[in-house]
Amino acid sequence: MVKIVKKERLSEQVLRYRLDAPRIARKRKAGQFIIIRPTQDSERIPLTIAGANPDEGWIEIIFQVVGRTTFLLSALNEGSYVLDLAGPLGKPTHVEKFGKALCIGGGVGVAPLYPIICALKAAGNEVVSIIGARSKSLLILENEIKDQSDRIYTATDDGSYGHKGFVSDIFNSLNNANEIFDVAYVIGPVMMMKVVSSLTIAAGIKTFASLNPIMIDGTGMCGGCRVTVFNETKFACVDGPEFDAAGIDWKELMNRLNSYKLFESEARQKQHSCRLEGVDK
Ligand SMILES: Cc1cc2nc3c(=O)[nH]c(=O)nc-3n(C[C@H](O)[C@H](O)[C@H](O)COP(=O)(O)OP(=O)(O)OC[C@H]3O[C@@H](n4cnc5c(N)ncnc54)[C@H](O)[C@@H]3O)c2cc1C
Ligand code: FES
Repeated sequence: MVKIVKKERLSEQVLRYRLDAPRIARKRKAGQFIIIRPTQDSERIPLTIAGANPDEGWIEIIFQVVGRTTFLLSALNEGSYVLDLAGPLGKPTHVEKFGKALCIGGGVGVAPLYPIICALKAAGNEVVSIIGARSKSLLILENEIKDQSDRIYTATDDGSYGHKGFVSDIFNSLNNANEIFDVAYVIGPVMMMKVVSSLTIAAGIKTFASLNPIMIDGTGMCGGCRVTVFNETKFACVDGPEFDAAGIDWKELMNRLNSYKLFESEARQKQHSCRLEGVDK
C-alpha cells in the first residue's frame, strides 16, 4: 500500500498525486515510469514519474482521467492508499548537452515531457517548449514548463488559449524562420507524434518520441507493449519508452492500440452505469 500524501487538481480531468515512495524517489531518472494498481479490482496501468524528491521520499504522477482505472485512481482521497506500484521502470531519457533542444507535448503527453525538459535544462541546454491541448481547460503545467524553458509556445485546437491550431503549426513557423535545433523530444497522442516527428525529421532534427502502447507487467515478460523500430521488435517497457522517431512503425502501433478500443469502451460504460447506480466498482 502506498500513501497519497498530496492530491491536486490541475484541470477538470487532470490530477497530480504526490505518493510516499522513498526508494523509487531515490532511484528514478527522467523518462521513467511506474506501473500502478489503484484498487483491488482495477487494472495495472503505466504512469510517468513526473517529479520526485529523494530527501522527502515522494514521487509525483500527473494523469488524465480517460477510462476505468484512471477514474478509480482519481476517486481516491489525499491520505488514503493506492494498492500497489512498481518502479522505476523503463530506460531513462538519454540527456546530454546537445545545444538547443525542442520539446513538443500534446494533451496529457505534457506530463511525461516535463521531467525531460527539467533534465535537459539542468544539463545546460537551451530549451524551447511547445505545448498544446484541445482547449484551455486541458492545457497543463504551463507555468512549471515556462520556469524550465528559455521560450514557451502554447496552442489549443479551439483557439481558447495561445495559437489556434496545432503544435505542428508552431514548429512550422519556427522552421520557416530558419530556427535550428539540435534535438527534439515529442510526446502526445500517437497521431500527433507521427505528424510532428515527420516534420522535425524532415527538418534534419534528431527526434525522440515516447511511445504509449498497452503495458501490463512493465518488465518485458508479457509482450503487450511490443513495437517495431527500424524493423526490429522492441518492448517499450524495457527498451523504451523513448525511441528514435525515424524508425518507429506508427501504423502498427496505431493498429495495436485500436484493437483494444472495444474492451476499453465496455469497461468505461460499465463504470458509468455503476456510478449512476451509486455502486462505485
Ligand atoms: C510509458 C507510459 C507512460 C504513461 N504516462 C502517463 C502519464 O504520465 N499520465 C497519463 O495521464 N497517462 C500516461 N500514460 C497513459 C496511461 O497509461 C493511460 O491513460 C491509462 O492506462 C488509461 O487507463 P484507463 O483504464 O483509465 O483507460 P482505458 O479506457 O482502459 O484506456 C484509455 C486509453 O489509455 C491507453 N491504455 C489503457 N490501458 C493501458 C495500459 N495498461 N497501458 C498503456 N496504455 C493503456 C489506451 O491508449 C487506451 O485507448 C502512459 C502510458 C505509457 C505507456
Ligand atoms: S509491458 Fe509486458 S512486455 Fe512490456
